[in-house]
Amino acid sequence: MTTQALLSQLYDTPETDIIEQIRSLKSELGDKVLILGHHYQREEVFAFADVTGDSLKLAQKAAETSAPYIIFCGVHFMAETADILTGDDQAVILPDLAAGCSMADMADDEQVNRCWRELSEVINPDECVTPVTYINSTASLKAFCGEHGGIVCTSGNARRILEWSWGNREKILFFPDQHLGENTALAMGIPDAEMIIWDPALPLGGNTPEAIEKAKLILWKGFCSVHQLFKPEHSDTMRKNHPGIEILAHPECSREVCETADFVGSTEMIIRHVSEAPSGTSFAIATELNLVNRLRLQFPDKPVWFLSPMVCMCSTMFRTDPQHLCAALTSIRDGDITHQITVPAQQKRWAKLSLERMLNLG
Ligand code: 13P
Ligand code: SF4
Repeated sequence: MTTQALLSQLYDTPETDIIEQIRSLKSELGDKVLILGHHYQREEVFAFADVTGDSLKLAQKAAETSAPYIIFCGVHFMAETADILTGDDQAVILPDLAAGCSMADMADDEQVNRCWRELSEVINPDECVTPVTYINSTASLKAFCGEHGGIVCTSGNARRILEWSWGNREKILFFPDQHLGENTALAMGIPDAEMIIWDPALPLGGNTPEAIEKAKLILWKGFCSVHQLFKPEHSDTMRKNHPGIEILAHPECSREVCETADFVGSTEMIIRHVSEAPSGTSFAIATELNLVNRLRLQFPDKPVWFLSPMVCMCSTMFRTDPQHLCAALTSIRDGDITHQITVPAQQKRWAKLSLERMLNLG
């Protein structure tokens, strides 16, 4: 049966039966399968993950596991990262191939190569620029960074990675999320005057040669369409309506939002922060809705609010539903793997180098 036919059949099956099928397939397959689940996954899928985490923790787990099959309940760049970090005898499966990340698509090969070429007209980037890419990027951009002496970072280790990068070369070209780069640099005390934004739609990224020569940090103009929905006025309203509330923000939020927050950190760091707070502390959180809802249920003694009055949900993370997870497990059981993510060997070599540079920093 094709995956499409199997999925159609599963969508006609009551969800309770699907949950039962997943349970039974998981126990039949045992250690052969490792299910990794990102914090933004919907509850029905998240409950089946063997390991849950932010993108850093899930990349570390992928690098460690010897399971022959890894089902990545997350988005495409996460499954690519897992494929790069696992052996040729291991298969990484993304249950729904349409689960992408719009931010990762904001820096394509042509734009990145043009940027490097244009920088070469002003400075010698191979001597003075460390390219750093947020893990939310294509395998090809990770490979570009690896080949040019650069490195990958996540929202959980960005500061350490920027320190390493400036230790090697005087400038950083940071892809593709302007906000993670900017928020991290500001927290490190880098002044505005030393940062410029590179708009790939404009010649020289919209900068003068003098500004490029002066810049310590060149920020690619990319963003997360979910986190950009949070606004600083949402924090003002929360503080007015709930005196004493703590505001927590993911660093993909804009600088203006992060400046209103009491704490800025990755999904894993936000969870740790809430779990370690004294009972009775209340929070307004600026990150994806599924995670915020889970925290609300997990910590009933700590009131949790969603920072925005609008629904900010990652629709691609939400694509992975129990039906797709069940189909992925069925394909493994039947020895007819579908939705496998395979990074081309040439990209893999350099992308692995940029990821290993990150993982080796601890
Ligand atoms: P974390 O690295 O914090 O898990 O975030 C990943 C992500 O895609 C946030 O939008
Ligand atoms: Fe990408 Fe934003 Fe979704 Fe994270 S929340 S996976 S950055 S679109």
